[in-house]
Amino acid sequence: MAAFLEVNNVFKSYFLNGKRIDVLKGVKLTIEKGELVSLIGASGSGKSTFLHVLGTLDAPAAGTLHFEGRSVFEMNDADVAEFRNRSIGFVFQSHYLLPEFTAAENVAMPALLQRKDKAVATKRARELLDRVGLGSRMDHRPGELSGGESQRVALARALMLEPALLLADEPTGNLDPATGEGIHQLLREVNKDLGITAVVVTHNETLARSLPRRLRLTNGKVVAAD
Ligand SMILES: Nc1ncnc2c1ncn2[C@@H]1O[C@H](COP(=O)(O)OP(=O)(O)OP(=O)(O)O)[C@@H](O)[C@H]1O
Ligand SMILES: [Mg+2]
Repeated sequence: MAAFLEVNNVFKSYFLNGKRIDVLKGVKLTIEKGELVSLIGASGSGKSTFLHVLGTLDAPAAGTLHFEGRSVFEMNDADVAEFRNRSIGFVFQSHYLLPEFTAAENVAMPALLQRKDKAVATKRARELLDRVGLGSRMDHRPGELSGGESQRVALARALMLEPALLLADEPTGNLDPATGEGIHQLLREVNKDLGITAVVVTHNETLARSLPRRLRLTNGKVVAAD
């Protein structure tokens, strides 16, 4: 059977002011369904770049990405977008919440965009916000939340449609140790209870070590950490 996720020979460079910056230099990686993976690496090593490619948000210059045998970068744009919305949940380094909506509305948004029942979506959004410890902040807008709270809203939103794959870019970056540990716990729970495969970029050594598989991005390649 095809692997859940297979990355082969992925290259990606940026071009800025006539200079080329080679970031991904032949990444090769296989992830099986249900894995919970941490990805560490120095600042600027290309972790966010790689997560964008994994999430089909950005095409590499060369290389392939297969989900359960399907070659993503050979699909047309509409099919990729459909696949991404259905299968992948993102928590970005900057959380991109919609400023005019409340926390609960932001979390429910992915379901509302798919025209799911509003009452069901709202109930689920409130449950998820409770899970990330924001039961008392449901009706705050992003401008009325702290950075760490906004990040937790973004995590709840990413879980709204129970994606097959969760990609989280430093989900505990702005959090105090206790709240960060709560998020780690939640990641382990959604992995175990919902079978969500997750790749978590982190600078947090404790989190990285607490996850079953550890990867490092270094010199443009992904290698086993430790
Ligand atoms: N749009 C862009 N144009 C030019 N260079 C870029 C662009 N985006 C990122 N880079 C460069 O590519 C490299 C990798 O960036 P990336 O954001 O993937 O790093 P990272 O590992 O996520 O770092 P951090 O831990 O600080 O978040 C960096 O050196 C960055 O300066
Ligand atoms: Mg980054």
